[in-house]
Amino acid sequence: MCGIVAVIGSREAAPLLLGGLKQLEYRGYDSAGLATVASRENADFGLMTCQRAKGKLANLAALVEKGGAEGFLGIGHTRWATHGKPEERNAHPHRDTASEIAVVQNGIIENYRSLKEELEAEGVVFNSETDTEVIPHLIARELKSLELESSVKTGAMLLSAVQKVSLQLTGAYAIAVIWSKTPEALVVARKQAPLLIGLGEGEFLCASDTPALAGFTRTILPMEDGEVALLTPLGIELYDAQGIRQQRSPTLLSGSDYVTDKRNFRHYMLKEIHEQPEIAELWVSRHLPEGLSVDTPVAFPFDNSFYQGIERVQILACGTSRHAALVGAYLLEQFSGIPTSVFYASEFRYAAPPLMPNTLTIGVTQSGETADTLAALLMEATRRTEHGDPAFASRQLGVTNRPESSLARQVPNILDIGAGMEVGVAATKTFLGQLFAFYGLALMFAARRKSRSQEEILNLTNELRAVPGQLRLLVKKHDQISEELAPHFANIQDVIFLGRGINYPIALEGALKLKEISYIHAEGYPAGEMKHGPIALLDPSVPVISIAMPGVVFDKVLSNAQEAKARDAQLIGIAPEGPDTKIFDSLLPLPKVSEWISPLFSVIPMQLLSYHIAAHRGLDVDQPRNLAKSVTVE
Ligand code: F6R
Repeated sequence: MCGIVAVIGSREAAPLLLGGLKQLEYRGYDSAGLATVASRENADFGLMTCQRAKGKLANLAALVEKGGAEGFLGIGHTRWATHGKPEERNAHPHRDTASEIAVVQNGIIENYRSLKEELEAEGVVFNSETDTEVIPHLIARELKSLELESSVKTGAMLLSAVQKVSLQLTGAYAIAVIWSKTPEALVVARKQAPLLIGLGEGEFLCASDTPALAGFTRTILPMEDGEVALLTPLGIELYDAQGIRQQRSPTLLSGSDYVTDKRNFRHYMLKEIHEQPEIAELWVSRHLPEGLSVDTPVAFPFDNSFYQGIERVQILACGTSRHAALVGAYLLEQFSGIPTSVFYASEFRYAAPPLMPNTLTIGVTQSGETADTLAALLMEATRRTEHGDPAFASRQLGVTNRPESSLARQVPNILDIGAGMEVGVAATKTFLGQLFAFYGLALMFAARRKSRSQEEILNLTNELRAVPGQLRLLVKKHDQISEELAPHFANIQDVIFLGRGINYPIALEGALKLKEISYIHAEGYPAGEMKHGPIALLDPSVPVISIAMPGVVFDKVLSNAQEAKARDAQLIGIAPEGPDTKIFDSLLPLPKVSEWISPLFSVIPMQLLSYHIAAHRGLDVDQPRNLAKSVTVE
């Protein structure tokens, strides 16, 4: 997490840095900071100014407005705290003892403790609790020995010092470094954390993610793992981890929509919930156009060989994306007949199951930057390559909302969910997009494997085609119902979400949404599991929200709800209206759709209820405490 930006060119750096950081604030908002070096044009040529503020970027912007940050060279940072509390002294940039070198970092320096001890033994005094602060001190040490060899201070010297320091650091990180003695040189480096160079006219803007570059340029050079670059107004020198000069052509940013307009909504999250019918419509028009054959019911960008010979699927993901993966696994197993397992990416990395042949590994990540998911996919690809047997070869697919992300550069096949920029930290529309991706895969595998009749495939296809219209009505209706219900949660401490079968992951998602934006403790359970312990939590103060959609487990879910009611729990149903669902104290009504497609509907009241509860409590819905949109640390 954290977002870094760095700029060098012929314009004042501070406004560019603040503009870039604004686009990266989704990566963390515990503190922000920037450092600039005054250019030749300034009276204070070579003076480094560093400004930092606790809390959101607006605090830093207010500080910068008072003046001081001058020059065409600068670096900036927005922080999600890992090492050290979210206080000003832990805010980036961090500097060496002489305050000549400033560094911003995104990631974690795993061996910082031993490096810190080494530096402290040499007399260095640390000002922060961060892992990052070792970097400027190490660079200062390297520069000192380089300065003994030559008295002329050059960008090449800074580059060389950073290259040497990079070899001493372990972990996953991206850094940007400036030195007050070289106001026309910027050095950036990355190792397993994203960093892109944007090429302008005689100027460069580097950033952790594309939105920060979109207003600056569409010509980008994504840095590869282990690379270090020296940027000057004259150009880029790019080196690999071995110090060998690299030549690569820049690419053009794809036409993704980076417009982050709140329209007339109070929060981005509400706007994004309301965008879901449009996203469904776009997906249907792109991937389920009329006229496709029953053998190829979905227009996906893969040829036959992609589906051939796959005997099992494993899905790696985190958080909300993992919940989408669980719905996906249900569809792939129950509809398409392929054994499918879902893993927390963070667990898979260190405890992967034994290799099985002919396995498709799917990584699901809306941001395409989640460190655990990327590392788990890489680890899986590596161990399969090392195995050597062609049956065990790596076959990977990435499902993402960011086709230009690190995931897309790492994985050979990508499904773009096309949900448009999601600003709210709590994922909503990207979850729906991920679900649609899995419906498409389930249809394709069922057709290829002939595990479903033509009629069943056609039925599901037609049901999916009808979803956008039904969602339009549903979102509108539930926005109002949830707003009315929200005040009843004013003093609630705990909520239980129940679901079964294909809607069990939606219960998990409902609980996650409520926790992360309203800070109310919530648990999602498979409804049948309640009686094995969690039922002890129930009393009249604990609402139970139960998803009951007609289908294989409908009666079972209703019985489980009755069990909760018998313990005086307040029962809220997410279910179609009818005699069976009268048992609920309140009902969030859904249309009578088939159980297969029901998650596309049952998730809507979950999202809206969480949103309205948090908004009613006056919380920062779009940027909840302690969270970040893109989790780029392990
Ligand atoms: C919750 C949420 C997170 C993410 C998780 C994975 O609303 O957004 O749980 O789902 O951090 O993120 P991605 O999908 O970017 O890999």
